[in-house]
Amino acid sequence: MKELIPAIVERRSLRSYTGESLEKWQIDNLIKAFMFAPSAMNYRPCHIIAVQNRKTLQKLSEVTPWSKMVAKSGVTFVILGDPERSRWWIEDCSAANENLLLEAADMGLGACWVQVRDISDEDAEKKIRDILEIPENLRILNMIAVGVPKRFKEKHREAEIDKSHMHWEKFQKSTS
Ligand SMILES: Cc1cc2nc3c(=O)[nH]c(=O)nc-3n(C[C@H](O)[C@H](O)[C@H](O)COP(=O)(O)O)c2cc1C
Repeated sequence: MKELIPAIVERRSLRSYTGESLEKWQIDNLIKAFMFAPSAMNYRPCHIIAVQNRKTLQKLSEVTPWSKMVAKSGVTFVILGDPERSRWWIEDCSAANENLLLEAADMGLGACWVQVRDISDEDAEKKIRDILEIPENLRILNMIAVGVPKRFKEKHREAEIDKSHMHWEKFQKSTS
């Protein structure tokens, strides 16, 4: 059996990057991980844009109050869904996002999800649409910044798991 659990436990949101570029094969691997995620009815409504241009990254880093790390990323992926192709585009794109995040962790890279859809700054989606010339029929769910991390965080610990959220056979009310 191949060991996936170490990558899952070690994956953390890393927001501080050296600013180095990533190699083409690394970006290809990340996109491949994204593309091979499960998809409801296999409708495959997700699109991914890889952005490496430094000026574009700077612009994208300014679209939300929580996207500053994008400026120094080696690549930032912008994740789009096509609601006309699948009503489950959010679920599909989320599954694909997690594949990419895990592949980044497994490759020793730092990555972080940046939310775009349904945040307090309603203009975020419009700003990105304008910067990247995204057609109106596609929605923008999020971005994922990826880079060579300046530092790593501690991996997750077993003690972080809220056991009251784990249920066996039927829903069990917490006694605490
Ligand atoms: C739907 C979603 C939206 C998120 N949005 C942001 C964001 O806009 N900016 C950011 O820095 N982190 C964002 N994160 C990362 C979370 O803050 C992070 O996953 C959480 O603090 C747990 O830390 P960990 O990823 O290291 O386990 C987001 C994560 C998810 C799943």
